[in-house]
Amino acid sequence: MSGPSTYEPKTGFERWLDQRLPIVRMMHDSFVDYPTPRNLNYFWTFGAILMLCLVTQIVTGIVLAMHYTPSIDDAFNSVQRIRRDVPFGWLIQNIHATGASMFFLAVYIHMFRGLYYGSYKAPREVLWILGVVIYVLMTATAFLGYVLPWGQMSFWGATVITNFFTAIPVVGEPIQQWLMGGFAIDNPTLNRFFSLHYLLPFVIAGVVILHVWALHVTGQNNPDGIEVKDKADTVPFTPYATIKDLFATVLFMIMFAVFVFFLPDALGHPDNFIPADPLKTPPHIVPEWYLLPFYAILRAIDFSIGPISAKLGGLMLMAGAIGILFILPWLDTSKVRSMRYRPVARWFFLIFVAVCLALGWCGAQSPDKVIGQAGEFTINATYKPAAGGEQTLTATGHTLEAAEKAFEKQRAATVASAGAGELTTTVVKPFQFKVTQFSQLLTLYYFAFFLLVLPILGLRETPNRVPETIAKAIGAKRGAAAEKGA
Ligand code: HEM
Repeated sequence: MSGPSTYEPKTGFERWLDQRLPIVRMMHDSFVDYPTPRNLNYFWTFGAILMLCLVTQIVTGIVLAMHYTPSIDDAFNSVQRIRRDVPFGWLIQNIHATGASMFFLAVYIHMFRGLYYGSYKAPREVLWILGVVIYVLMTATAFLGYVLPWGQMSFWGATVITNFFTAIPVVGEPIQQWLMGGFAIDNPTLNRFFSLHYLLPFVIAGVVILHVWALHVTGQNNPDGIEVKDKADTVPFTPYATIKDLFATVLFMIMFAVFVFFLPDALGHPDNFIPADPLKTPPHIVPEWYLLPFYAILRAIDFSIGPISAKLGGLMLMAGAIGILFILPWLDTSKVRSMRYRPVARWFFLIFVAVCLALGWCGAQSPDKVIGQAGEFTINATYKPAAGGEQTLTATGHTLEAAEKAFEKQRAATVASAGAGELTTTVVKPFQFKVTQFSQLLTLYYFAFFLLVLPILGLRETPNRVPETIAKAIGAKRGAAAEKGA
């Protein structure tokens, strides 16, 4: 993509090194003279921001590991010691804990950017798939890391998630025990989670190298989704992209700093400040915000389908929700890459974003929470006094408690007037729309977007006219702006 190298070693040392290890040439061709589409917007700065996040997590993580003790008796206290006694421990720990959220915020923007502008489409399929591999590794790393402070949410989150593996027939239980290193979440679990949490970021770094390599083979996509045709479509990476990346990174760091210095615990769960207690289950076990949409999908299935239990169904759907991203390049049939020129697909995409946010909301709620209700609870009763005769009693209320209270009044009044007798009651429940049902609808849209909307719409939709070149697209924009100004 970048064409023949333009690097010219100037000093004798540079020539000597270039003949033995052309690393400076590689850096020059990739990050200085690399031809970058001239129409990239700020969404293309998130790759650089993600690099910063990864390095920050690794550096702060290594320092934290110097003071952390991976034992169930000391883990919680060692984190408290880091926050209170270790010089600048409060800062390092805050950066690492908040940094996880910032990393996910950036990666979601990066992924949705890819979805909107069709960056996953040919010839960038491998680049996208490597991205999904990074995402899977990131979620695993974040889950393992959350267990390390050994708070209530650490312990119970790990219990809930490892327990889901038991739903897999035959191999489920051995996998669960292998993950836990025993029959329950205990010291061996904490030890292996710490070891893997330390290892995985380096694996991520390795896959990021492949990701950027794949990017440099195909070249960057751009907001118009058209391939670079000639030099007029590009600008050199340095200074244009470098300065833009730097500016966006500084803005991101300011937002990051606001959380680190003013809202360090805003993104975490207060229960994780309580040491893990295997005998006390918290009322609501929830993961960190960035895993909530997948948690909602995991819990969406509350019924079994033939031999597939509700638990296994949820697990399969959650795995499918991530797995589907791997085959996305082959699901979207549209010839036009960017949704900028796909007026209908754009609306489906916006709904998709809203659905993902709503799934996140559902993941944070209790599955039984009632969102809407049609009608009221009704208690019907027949009362047969010992003296003879029969009376019917009916009481209603918005909640079962309210209906029961109203019924009790009637019952007491009837008993007082007609004397003791026999009471038969039936309760008619109204239709209630609960978080679980909402999650089911949202999950349906999530899958329909990939399995129906993208494949069918790609064939049926009439896209807007796509400019022939990036230079022409920019020219048209400039022309429109000049006309507006005139
Ligand atoms: C540690 C995490 C990641 C890092 C450091 C990273 C880094 C980068 C960089 C530096 C670029 C080029 C600049 C840019 O387009 O912003 C890029 C592009 C890209 N990334 Fe990532 N990435 C990460 C995760 C992901 C994930 C999770 C996905 C998708 C699932 C993904 C998909 C893509 C795609 C499709 C492109 C090409 C974009 C285009 O040219 O239009 N990346 N990435």
